[in-house]
Amino acid sequence: MTPGRYTGRRAVVTGGASGIGAATAARLRAEGADVLVVDVRPPETGDHLIGDVAREETWEQVAERGPYDLVVSNAAAVDVLPAHRTSLESWHRQIGVNLTGTFLAARRLLPDLAARRGSMVVTSSVHALVGLPGHPAYAAAKGGLTALTRQLAVEYGPDARVNCVIPGPIMTPAWDRVDEAGRADSVRATVLRRFGEPEEVAAVIAFLGSADASFMTGTSVVVDGGWSIVKDSA
Ligand SMILES: NC(=O)c1ccc[n+]([C@@H]2O[C@H](COP(=O)([O-])OP(=O)(O)OC[C@H]3O[C@@H](n4cnc5c(N)ncnc54)[C@H](O)[C@@H]3O)[C@@H](O)[C@H]2O)c1
Repeated sequence: MTPGRYTGRRAVVTGGASGIGAATAARLRAEGADVLVVDVRPPETGDHLIGDVAREETWEQVAERGPYDLVVSNAAAVDVLPAHRTSLESWHRQIGVNLTGTFLAARRLLPDLAARRGSMVVTSSVHALVGLPGHPAYAAAKGGLTALTRQLAVEYGPDARVNCVIPGPIMTPAWDRVDEAGRADSVRATVLRRFGEPEEVAAVIAFLGSADASFMTGTSVVVDGGWSIVKDSA
C-alpha cells in the first residue's frame, strides 16, 4: 500500500462489484483515488454505474463522468464448454465482454486519458498463455487482450501507458462453479501451493497504473504463484 499515490486521480474499474475488480477499486481508493465502478450489478460500496462493458452506450455514460487518469478494464464472462458445444451467441458474448469491452473503453477514453498522461491496465488471464480444455472463446479473448495491450501502448504512447496483468488461480466468486477436487488440482499446479488473493492482483494493477511503473508499457505481468512456469511431465 502506498498512501497518497493516487491522490487527485480519477479511475474507472470495470467488473468492480466482485473479486479482483472490487479489490482493485478498494486499493485505489485507499491510495487516494476517486473511483467509478462499472458493472452489470452494484458493488457493495462506492460510486458506480450499472452497465454492460460490451455496449457502446455504457462508455458514453462513463465518459460523461470523466475525465480519467486510470482505466482498469477487468470485467469478464466465461462459459466452460468445448468448441464444438459453444454456441455462436456464447462465443460473441465472451468475446464481447472480455475483448470488445476493452476496445470500446480504449476507443472512448484513451485520447482524453493520453492528454492527461494517464494509464490503462487490462486484466487478461493465464488462458492467454496455455490451452486449458473448455475455454475456446475466453482463451481467444484473453490472448487478444495481450496483443491489444501492445497495440494500444504503441498507438497512444508516449502520452499514455497501457499494460496488462495475467492472473493465475485467484480465489474469487468466479471459482464458485468449481468443485473441491478441481480447486485442489489448481492449487497443486502452482509453485506457491495456494490460490492467490484478489488483493495480490489489485496490488500489481495499482503499481502498473501508477508512476512507479513509469518505464513500463505494452507489457503483461504474470501474477500466478508460478502456475505457468511448471509442467508436471516427469
Ligand atoms: N479469478 C481467477 O482465478 C482469474 C484468473 C485469471 C484471470 N481472471 C480475470 O480477472 C478478472 C476478474 O475476475 P474475477 O475472478 O474477479 O471474477 P468475478 O466473477 O469475481 O468478477 C467479475 C465481475 O465482472 C462483472 N461483469 C460480468 N460481465 C460484465 C459486463 N458485461 N459488463 C460489466 N461488468 C460485467 C461481474 O458482474 C463481476 O462483478 C476477469 O477479467 C477474469 O477473466 C481471473
